[in-house]
Formats: sequence, structure tokens, C-alpha cells
Amino acid sequence: MIQENSLEEEKLILDDIASRLKAFGREREELIPILQMIQERHAYIAEDAIKMAAEYLGIAICEVYGVATFYNQFRFHPPGKNHIKVCLGTACHVRGGDIILENFERKLEIRDGETTPDREFSIERVACVGCCALAPVSVVNETVQGHMAPSKVEGLILGFKIEKEKAEREKKKSEPAQ
Ligand code: FES
Repeated sequence: MIQENSLEEEKLILDDIASRLKAFGREREELIPILQMIQERHAYIAEDAIKMAAEYLGIAICEVYGVATFYNQFRFHPPGKNHIKVCLGTACHVRGGDIILENFERKLEIRDGETTPDREFSIERVACVGCCALAPVSVVNETVQGHMAPSKVEGLILGFKIEKEKAEREKKKSEPAQ
């Protein structure tokens, strides 16, 4: 189950997309540039954004969805606060990248391309990130984590959870007593 943006947030996103669509033509070839614009602006493509693109180009929603899902570059859920990219390029794949992905998925109870309900974590499989000597590699919030192993997956997630709890405790402490 994914906790999507609040209604207000979603409305702002859709308003932004509507105003930017006007810059595009209405031919089918505009579909990918439109999807790229949406993802670039909002980091993911919501269901309503797919409907808007379909309506704008006068094509079926399933056609837009079909094109969008064909390309790995598009996301359909808002990214989590901690975004985890798992490299499945050749070197990483050979060294067990898929086991690392499976471990992240199992630990966070989400699949590749999804975001946890609390929006803390999201997972994405990616192609070679250019650090093959460190395979298998994951990139967590833009920090490269080399020589990944299941125990490292556990340690990373635990570290983030401890940080979050600490921040929440600090926040509570700084709130005025009632
Ligand atoms: S294949 Fe993973 S970093 Fe190159």
C-alpha cells in the first residue's frame, strides 16, 4: 500500500502540469517529452498525470501507460526520503546485485519502483553507475555503497531508522510542554 501525496499537494502538481502542457504540441511524438517533463518536475508520474497526458494528446490512457511502463526511467510513486538505487549492471549482477535488491525489498516490504507507506524509503533498480570495481553497488541518497552484502543492507536501514527515532525524540523534547 502506498501513501500518496496529500490532496492539496496533488492538486498543485496537476495545476503545474496543466500549465506546462501548453508548451507541447498535440502529436503522439510529444508523449515521451511530456512524460519526461512531468518526472523531471515532480520526480514521479501520478495516475492523474497519465490521464492528463492522454487527454491532452487525444490518445487512450492505456497507451500512455504502456509507453511509460516500457521505459525504466519513469517512476509511478513519489520517491521516499531515502532513495535507494540498486545497480543491476553486468558486474553487479554477476556479483549478486539481484540478491541485494531482494534484501532491500524484503526488509522494506516494498518492490522495486515502490515507496514505503511512510514515504521514508523507495527502491529503484538501475543500470551501471560506473563503479564496477566496487560491485555489487547501491547508491543510497547519492552516496555510493560498494561491496554490498545482506548484512550491509540491514545495517543501512537500521541506521536510518535509528536516525529517524533520534530526530523524533529531539523534536518532542524541543516542543513546549502542555
Ligand atoms: S555494473 Fe554496477 S557499477 Fe557497473
